[in-house]
Amino acid sequence: MRAYDIIYKKRNGEKLTKKEINFMINGFVDGSIPDYQMSAFTMAVFFKGMDFEETVELTFAMVNSGEMYELNGLPYPSADKHSTGGVGDKISIPLVPIVTTYDIIVPMMSGRGLGHTGGTLDKLESIPGFQVNFEKDDFFKLLKENKTAMIGQSRDIAPADKKLYALRDVTATVDSMPLITASIMSKKIAEGAKNYIFDVKYGSGAFMKDRKSAEKLAEYLKKVAKIANRNGDYILSDMNTPLGNTIGNRLEIIESIEILKGNGPKDVKNLTERLAARMLVLAGIFSNDNDAINDIQKKYKTGVYIEQFRKIIEAQKGNSRVLDDYDIMPAAKKQFHYKANSSGKIIKEDALQFGLAALATGAGREKKEDDVDHSTGIELIRKEGERIEKNEDILIIHYNDENKLKNALTYLEKGLVIE
Ligand code: URA
Repeated sequence: MRAYDIIYKKRNGEKLTKKEINFMINGFVDGSIPDYQMSAFTMAVFFKGMDFEETVELTFAMVNSGEMYELNGLPYPSADKHSTGGVGDKISIPLVPIVTTYDIIVPMMSGRGLGHTGGTLDKLESIPGFQVNFEKDDFFKLLKENKTAMIGQSRDIAPADKKLYALRDVTATVDSMPLITASIMSKKIAEGAKNYIFDVKYGSGAFMKDRKSAEKLAEYLKKVAKIANRNGDYILSDMNTPLGNTIGNRLEIIESIEILKGNGPKDVKNLTERLAARMLVLAGIFSNDNDAINDIQKKYKTGVYIEQFRKIIEAQKGNSRVLDDYDIMPAAKKQFHYKANSSGKIIKEDALQFGLAALATGAGREKKEDDVDHSTGIELIRKEGERIEKNEDILIIHYNDENKLKNALTYLEKGLVIE
């Protein structure tokens, strides 16, 4: 078998066999297939697609590149949530402390921000001392202690995905349905949870630009989960405008903690509760979403969610004083108040442009190896759909560098429309 022939076959739109798909993935992981051939292969898949059977084979080839964790030895049912990524999407951070106050295991392995989308790991690392790099033994220790581990993908979980994702990211082949499905599902299957809720986003700030393609991706994820003997379900959510009132790591941690205290913006609170409720129903804790949501809502003011987050932070070596004193996370040195130059209605705050603006302040990374500035970002004072008067603040940019502010402003000007 030769990589050339398999690339040629896919380039011509033909269906690949299990053997051919395994040959490509195994060869890429062991280094016998170089990046340039794998890049050509992923581009062929991008243009010619893969049918469902090929997508399943690709997923399992990637699962089998590493280890498959077994969570059956733990005392509770397991469930996990995965978002396809967005702007201001901090949902995992309030969601995990909420759901783990119930008898449920949540092996929350997350990613870093890339391009205009943020990443849970970068956000968590805004908390001084918070560690996200743990391997298998510590992962299980955290699950036993707190029912969750909010960590990065450990080395033995779907290593093919780690390598392939890095390549796709620099070869414009991320937004391909079979590749996204295999990437997400290989990690989820290997990590061991039995139930998943997928938050599949559509709109300008998402990989899937329209609702129909998001739904197709969601159905693929659910069907692959079923083949792996897991329970999958999904919510489709809008990513045309940023989620919540903050974009940027430190700012999003503050917003997440406020949610756990029963405050925070409505859209973040609603989506967190909907996803949490689905997880609890999938894991058999409640029989329907409404009962789960009612129960979740009763407990904000008791402080149990904050106490659970305190335990998670401390187990991962973070400074839990952050829950009472946001100033222990260093703030950006300067703030720019972006004011309305006329009265009217805000008809657009575009997720993609706002995400790029936050990235320009230093809150994200252009390349995998870039450092992130945890202190910078954007605070939305007014949201899309609201009325605003001349000279009132629309948003505040938190920044440290004048040139970065200038770049951020060019994106914001493109993404903001007042009429
Ligand atoms: N998230 C993933 O984990 N993989 C993708 O390919 C896209 C989003």
